[in-house]
Amino acid sequence: MSRKKIIAGNWKMNMTPSEAVKLVEELKPLVNNPDVDVVYCVPAIDIIPVVEAVKGSNVEVGAENVYFEEKGAFTGEISTAMLKDAGVKYVIIGHSERRDYFKEDDALLNKKVKKVIEAGLTPILCCGETLEQRETGVTMDFIRLQIKSDLVGVSADQVKNMVIAYEPIWAIGTGKTATTEQAEEVCKGIRDCIAEIYDAATAEAVRIQYGGSVNAGNAAELFAQPDIDGGLVGGASLKADFGKIVNYK
Ligand code: PGA
Repeated sequence: MSRKKIIAGNWKMNMTPSEAVKLVEELKPLVNNPDVDVVYCVPAIDIIPVVEAVKGSNVEVGAENVYFEEKGAFTGEISTAMLKDAGVKYVIIGHSERRDYFKEDDALLNKKVKKVIEAGLTPILCCGETLEQRETGVTMDFIRLQIKSDLVGVSADQVKNMVIAYEPIWAIGTGKTATTEQAEEVCKGIRDCIAEIYDAATAEAVRIQYGGSVNAGNAAELFAQPDIDGGLVGGASLKADFGKIVNYK
């Protein structure tokens, strides 16, 4: 079975609404690749103009965060219904910046994953180790714990349609990419973990991205690995290079 590649930009806290529309227009002729699902995960305030700007292209829009409650007194938060109504298809859950700076733990992330799936949106669930964890040799133990905790109560059929992003924290925004071997080893480890929790068919179907300093120069080699189904791209998604990453072959 061959999995379709999925390459997503994670814009983080960059791009005002007007800058966002300009970037989408600039990238439009560059990100055409029918073999790849292309997603822009953008700040909440950019969602409506970006959904409008990508119309007629192959690009889908994602959010960078969401709250798990249906609606109500949660000042400052955004619901899945709001995202869906605005035209969003994907939601990043558990990015290391959310886990670290905003103290989002696995119990909270599990609620978010379930809510996103229930709403008919696709979660891009992030996991990844710190440099210290890598150096002490607990990378896979830590990531397995994240995956198992974040997927409590999620069915095999639901997992088949989701995306998992492996992002070693030490490689994010540092220009220090994991080697192809390191990235493949962990992505395969995640797939094995899914096979253990669920079954082989679920592991075969789930798409696993690598993220962390992906650029136009390293994308082809990373995405050629058997267990790497695309990338979650930060810095390089904000420039023309993203077109080269989408057309990595
Ligand atoms: P980076 O970010 O590509 O700038 O390293 C990746 C991410 O945080 O998703």
